[in-house]
Amino acid sequence: MKVRTDGGVRDLRAVWFDNGKVMMIDQRELPHKIVIAGFDDHKDVAEAIRNMTTRGAPSIGAAAAYAMCLASLSGADLDTASQEIKAARPTANDLFFAVDRMFSILKNGSDPVKAANDYADMIVDKCTKIGEHGSKLIRDGMTIMTHCNAGALATVDVGTALAPMRRAWADGKRFFVYASETRPRLQGMQLTAWELDQEGIDHAVIPDGASAYYMEKGVDMIITGADRITANGDFANKIGTFDKAIVAKRFGIPFYVAAPVSTFDFNTKTGKDIEIEQRSEKEVTEICGTRIAPKGSRALNPAFDVTPAELVTGFITENGILSPKDIRKVMINE
Ligand code: MRU
Repeated sequence: MKVRTDGGVRDLRAVWFDNGKVMMIDQRELPHKIVIAGFDDHKDVAEAIRNMTTRGAPSIGAAAAYAMCLASLSGADLDTASQEIKAARPTANDLFFAVDRMFSILKNGSDPVKAANDYADMIVDKCTKIGEHGSKLIRDGMTIMTHCNAGALATVDVGTALAPMRRAWADGKRFFVYASETRPRLQGMQLTAWELDQEGIDHAVIPDGASAYYMEKGVDMIITGADRITANGDFANKIGTFDKAIVAKRFGIPFYVAAPVSTFDFNTKTGKDIEIEQRSEKEVTEICGTRIAPKGSRALNPAFDVTPAELVTGFITENGILSPKDIRKVMINE
């Protein structure tokens, strides 16, 4: 992704490998500062996934692939390292997909750096194809809504939900995007809006609670990403996605989910079996370290919800736009 800095425009990925270190844009510092973090121990990369230095399913997967690369280079036991890395976060399928893939490649004695770089390149290639397929849905003058961040920051580069918008804008189409702010970690406001601003794409941040208001006024399409898609087409995504899908159905607005094969979990039958990460209540009760909730109040903080397949118009994948009933056949040739 092109990032405007004081020193000019830089071409950056969300996660990469340089000089023996896993490098990542520290997403906790955006949109105000571009801070690059570097790690040379796989356990530190696992911690960076847990504390959301990097986040978003495909970026988590790439960071995990690079963590496996570090583990291999340091001679660590790969079984143990796999478990340590997989323990970082429970919901995004990409984390498990990437660790398992790297484990089997590294067991065959492959070059760890090449294997991890290949993994990251594969994700970027799939996102580019998602952009090509999804951009065909976008027409001049449309109003599109998205939730959380499924842009280049979340996917190494290009994006999943944002890929069709990036591509359509680059092709000269002009449209407007609502980015819902995404309480409590504000990925919509701090990350998606930042990416849209960097690209010059016309947009506005809206409070999460304003989605129905704007959908009633007129939204042509919703595109979100996903953290895990089960065999029947149910999918987990950032908390608040399920509400949007229900309201979209109410107003007859097409609801698309963009994701590469690494996010599909065909071993899990339905969304009911997805483990939903519960994060610290402080993310809800505090803003920038200052408590805003009454001292005596608890908070609950599920990071994701599950939207049933029946509310999905289509999955935008590297293999085209698929209905929930076609995903097994097309994504894993079943
Ligand atoms: O908790 P996060 O920020 O890692 O969650 C990411 C999301 O849920 C995004 O909405 C996204 O769609 C999935 S990653 C492309």
